[in-house]
Amino acid sequence: MKPSPFTRLAVALGILLSVGLAAGAARAAPIVVKFSHVVAEKTPKGQGALKFKELAEAALPGKVEVQVFPNSQLFGDGKEMEALLLGDVQIIAPSLSKFDRYTKKLQIFDLPFMFDDMDAVDRFQSSPAGQALLDSMKTKGIKGLAYWHNGLKQLSTNKDKLTRPEDVKGLKFRIQASDVLEAQFRQLGANPQKLAFSEVYQALQTGVVDGQENTWSNIYSQKIHEVQKTIAVTNHGAIDYMVIANAAWWDSLPDDVRAGLQKAMAGATAYANKLAADINDRDRQRIADAGEAKIQELSKRDVAAWREAVRPVWSKFQDQIGEDLIAKARASNGD
Ligand code: LMR
Repeated sequence: MKPSPFTRLAVALGILLSVGLAAGAARAAPIVVKFSHVVAEKTPKGQGALKFKELAEAALPGKVEVQVFPNSQLFGDGKEMEALLLGDVQIIAPSLSKFDRYTKKLQIFDLPFMFDDMDAVDRFQSSPAGQALLDSMKTKGIKGLAYWHNGLKQLSTNKDKLTRPEDVKGLKFRIQASDVLEAQFRQLGANPQKLAFSEVYQALQTGVVDGQENTWSNIYSQKIHEVQKTIAVTNHGAIDYMVIANAAWWDSLPDDVRAGLQKAMAGATAYANKLAADINDRDRQRIADAGEAKIQELSKRDVAAWREAVRPVWSKFQDQIGEDLIAKARASNGD
């Protein structure tokens, strides 16, 4: 039977309507930005990621949806870089110690006692040399968007005495995936073991390792102080982050979206970096109040002994990092 003109009209209208709806839906679908990280939400990075979501969604209403996955929920630190390059997530913020497979330049941040304090770290990151490092992995498909602070590292063990470099001889330490950190512990006569962040607590609890190094906020939020006896205030290095995006994805964004995300990132960076020191001070106090691990202050002489003991690590990596970059980083200390 031939369809009546009325039926034909109804079918045509139906097709038009569904094409129109589909186009509208395509226009309305927000770009989903998955931001994965390995730490707790109440840390500097956790807070920065949430601020980025808030600012990005406010700047680009209906255009982007930022989904934040904290606590290694999606992947641990061993997998997140791969996931970024595969496009499974769009933004991650690994610690600067986790890039040595992609660039040797960022090893500058792991040289022990390179920076006197976080102001020096900030000065170096903001300098032309520091900013240039954000683009040092472009050929690997990685776009650096910003540096985020955490803070200075402290050393902890399951022993009562932890004041001198010789106190860690023969002990096993969990380290991040960094050849410089591996060399640092070998230099001290200790045994480093690269382990994912999510495994630290259990490795300490079960005695797979005796100690670790991290910031106050990471120690507190992972309950590391509950499975360690002593935390020495060594301030021997920094844990900071590079917030990175999949470069192909970043370049493919509509201009207004990229600009909006960039602005949100600048806002989140300022926010997180201002907060980082307070969060670490707060968590140091909480660790002290908990009364589990002892916080061991070090004398100037003791700190000098640690500095001296790990100094040979610098020359081991100076060719890979470049003497010029090392000189620039040192100059940020103002000495
Ligand atoms: C670590 O693995 O100890 C840190 O890099 C974790 C982090 O992201 O702060």
